[in-house]
Amino acid sequence: MQKTKTFFQCQACGSMSPKWLGKCPDCGAWNSFTEEKKESVRHSSIATHFKKSEPQPLSSVTGGTGQRTSTGIGELDRVLGGGVVPGSVVLVGGDPGIGKSTLLLQALSGISGKGGKVLYVSGEESPEQVKIRAERLAINSEDIILLPETSLESIVHTATKLVPKVLVVDSIQTVYTEEILSAPGSVSQVRDCAAKLMLFAKKSDIPVFLIGHVTKEGAIAGPRVLEHIVDTVLYFEGDRGHSYRILRTVKNRFGSTNEIGIFEMSDSGLLEVENPSELFLLERPLNVSGSTVVASMEGTRPLMVEIQSLVSQTNFGMPRRTTIGVDFNRVNLLVAVLEKKAGLHLGGMDIFVNVVGGLKLIEPAVDLGIIATITSSLRDIPVDPRLFVFGEVGLSGEIRAVAQAEIRLKEAAKIGFKHAVIPFGNSDKIKNNFGLEITGARNVEDCLKAVFR
Ligand code: TYD
Ligand code: MG
Repeated sequence: MQKTKTFFQCQACGSMSPKWLGKCPDCGAWNSFTEEKKESVRHSSIATHFKKSEPQPLSSVTGGTGQRTSTGIGELDRVLGGGVVPGSVVLVGGDPGIGKSTLLLQALSGISGKGGKVLYVSGEESPEQVKIRAERLAINSEDIILLPETSLESIVHTATKLVPKVLVVDSIQTVYTEEILSAPGSVSQVRDCAAKLMLFAKKSDIPVFLIGHVTKEGAIAGPRVLEHIVDTVLYFEGDRGHSYRILRTVKNRFGSTNEIGIFEMSDSGLLEVENPSELFLLERPLNVSGSTVVASMEGTRPLMVEIQSLVSQTNFGMPRRTTIGVDFNRVNLLVAVLEKKAGLHLGGMDIFVNVVGGLKLIEPAVDLGIIATITSSLRDIPVDPRLFVFGEVGLSGEIRAVAQAEIRLKEAAKIGFKHAVIPFGNSDKIKNNFGLEITGARNVEDCLKAVFR
C-alpha cells in the first residue's frame, strides 16, 4: 500500500521541513509548523494555460497605460498607479475589521457603474451580510453579482462564464482548491489558489482583487507568502481607535510604491481625504513643548505631519526609548548626535517619540523634525506653530539636502505655515519661496538656533 507522504510547513513564511520544528529557522516564528500532505499528481503546468506564444518585437505590442479602468475612488486609483490594469492581480492585506471588504465593495460599485457586471466572491459572509454592508454604503446595483463560494474551481468556472469587469475574492484564506488536500487557509492552499487565480487573470484579462487577512499571531497563512505571486500588494492600515485608514503600496508592477491613499471611515463607508495635511494637523496643540511639524513626502504627495516627543527624567537605571511611527534606531542615532554635537544631556532621560495620526514616516527627511521635537521637550520651549522643518541629519551633525524641497514648501505655504528651517543645500537652490521665510541650516546647531530663536 502506498504511504501518503507528509511534510511540515511554516504557516508564516512557507518554509518546509520533513520534521516538525518548534521555531522556524527561516523567519523565526514559533509554533508555526503544521503538517501538510504532499500531492501525488503535479497539476497542469503553466504552459498549458497560455496560448502558444510567438516572439514579437516590443514596438508591435499593443496596449499600455491607456487601458486602465478607474475604480471611481481617486485615492485607490492613485495607489494602483492610475487605475486598475487589465489582467492584474492585486492583493489587499490588512488586519480584520480595518475596512477591506468595505473598500472593495465601494470600488466595485464605482467600476460597475459604467456598465458591465462585476463579481464579488465572498467566502466569509452570506449575501445577506454583504447586503447589510451595501445598504450602509447606499450601494444597490444589479451589476454587482454576489457569489458565496469557497471552491476555487467553482469560482473560476462562474467567472469564466460571467466574464465580469473585475473579480474580487474575499478572502483568499477561505478559498480552497480540490487538487490539494491541505485545509483552506494553509500556506499551500493559499499559494496554489492565488497562482491559479493569477493564471485566470492573465488568460482572461480580467483584473482580480484578493483580500487577505494578516493576524499578529500568524495563525492563518499570512498574505506575505503571496507577495511574489501577485502584481500589486496593498496594505490597509490604521488604528482601529482612529477613523483614518491608510492604503499603502508595498509592491506594484504597474506603478510607484511608497504611494499612499488616505481614507476616513465614516458611518456610510470610506471617504477620501482630499487634504490630509490639514487632517493630520487638526488637533495639534499650539504653543506646547515637544511638538514639531515636518514636511514629509509620501510617494508623490507632500504631507505635513506633527511629530511629538516627551523627554523626562528616567526613574530606572536604564533610560527608556520608545518610538511610534519613526524608526527606533534612527531616533537613537539622532539622540547620540544631539548629545555629541549640540551638547544636550539626554543620557539620563526617557525619550518617547510619536507620529500623530498613525502614520509611519520612513524617509530620512524627517530627521530635523525629530531633533527639533526632542530639543523642544527637553528645554520645555514650544516651537512656533507656524514653523516647520525637513532635512536629513548626518552622523557628524551636518544637515543634508533632501529631494523635492519645493513641493514640500508649496504644501506648507498652502496651509498657512510661515517659516521653514531646511537644509542649506536646499535653501541655496530654491527658486520660489512661496511667501515663506526660509532659513538654511548647515548643521544641527544652526538648525536649533533657527528653530528656537
Ligand atoms: P470591513 O470592511 O468588514 O472590514 P474587513 O473586511 O477588513 O474585515 O469593515 C469593518 C469595520 O468597518 C467595522 O468595524 C464597521 C466599520 N464600518 C463603518 O464604520 N462604517 C461603514 O459604513 C461600514 C460599512 C463599516
Ligand atoms: Mg471582510
